[in-house]
Amino acid sequence: MRKTTLTEGGVGKAIRPEGRDAWAAWLTEVGSPIEAALDDALPAESEKPKSVHRAMRYSVFSGGKRIRPALGALGFRLGGGRGDGGVRLGAAIELIHTFSLIHDDLPCMDDDDYRRGRLTCHRKFGEAVAVLAGDGLQVLAFEVLATLPASAERRLRVLHEITRAVGTAGVVGGQVVDIESEGRRISPASLRWMHERKTGVLLRASLVCGAILAGARPGLLERLATFGGAFGLLFQITDDLLDEHGSYKTLGRRRGRDRVLGKATYPATLGRERARLALAEAVAEALSLIPVEGDMGEVFADLVGTVVGRLPEGVLKGTQS
Ligand code: IPE
Ligand code: IPE
Ligand code: MG
Ligand code: MG
Ligand code: MG
Repeated sequence: MRKTTLTEGGVGKAIRPEGRDAWAAWLTEVGSPIEAALDDALPAESEKPKSVHRAMRYSVFSGGKRIRPALGALGFRLGGGRGDGGVRLGAAIELIHTFSLIHDDLPCMDDDDYRRGRLTCHRKFGEAVAVLAGDGLQVLAFEVLATLPASAERRLRVLHEITRAVGTAGVVGGQVVDIESEGRRISPASLRWMHERKTGVLLRASLVCGAILAGARPGLLERLATFGGAFGLLFQITDDLLDEHGSYKTLGRRRGRDRVLGKATYPATLGRERARLALAEAVAEALSLIPVEGDMGEVFADLVGTVVGRLPEGVLKGTQS
């Protein structure tokens, strides 16, 4: 039985039993098929107009953790899916994620020069090509979704979920509030609302859509959605804390950018100690909502540990301010 030490604000080792690396094992299983599906979906660099295709490939193949496509494939497997539908769905979601990162880094948004240790798309290819590469990736994702190997009814349900997750009810809406909250204090409730949308909904949709594609029963869909919601929140709280405490290697860029921009983050809004407690609560919540038992349940638990484990140990234990 895993436990989190909420009173100490610690969320560290307790959730990561030694010797288990179930999430890494799942990534190893689905990693190569995901890369192949991405490569298959993306136009070749030699195809006209070359600049935008180079930019799209540059950003997709730059060392992302591939959490969303691996979740898509996991939902598909748990739903009883067979064949490559899960990884193709996952690839489509990674294309959407990459589009959102390219636009997130633009001068009119977070104005970042580096991502994943490399120049951001607009710094490498110029702003216009970066905007268009993001547009191209998003539209390409919907082409992949429209041609998934499943019945028209399942494809339509997946398309509906993803459009809701990306639009103003999801990522776009969350990003709008993120930008409009710069330099302002917002309530903890608004902060949570924003984080659930800009980051949480796409993570949740990855799991749920994989299961929909496989034809899973409503009970499993419900459990995946509930876990996905809790996981999405802890993911973005961790991202906020990483911006303050993460190493260059972990972040792929210098830390402290959110403070410079006056971003509404968990540490900026609640203070570091309460932000850490909020993370501990979100972790406990997610671990209590693991949607399946047995080995596959370990994959979920280890995913939580892997994400939170990117934070320095002192932050997890509450000994580092
Ligand atoms: C970063 O997401 C952007 C957020 C939504 C917080 P990831 O941390 O999953 O980014 P990559 O894809 O691994 O670089
Ligand atoms: C990005 O959030 C969320 C989306 C791209 C939708 P952040 O702005 O916090 O992500 P990073 O820190 O730049 O990766
Ligand atoms: Mg941002
Ligand atoms: Mg950003
Ligand atoms: Mg961030």
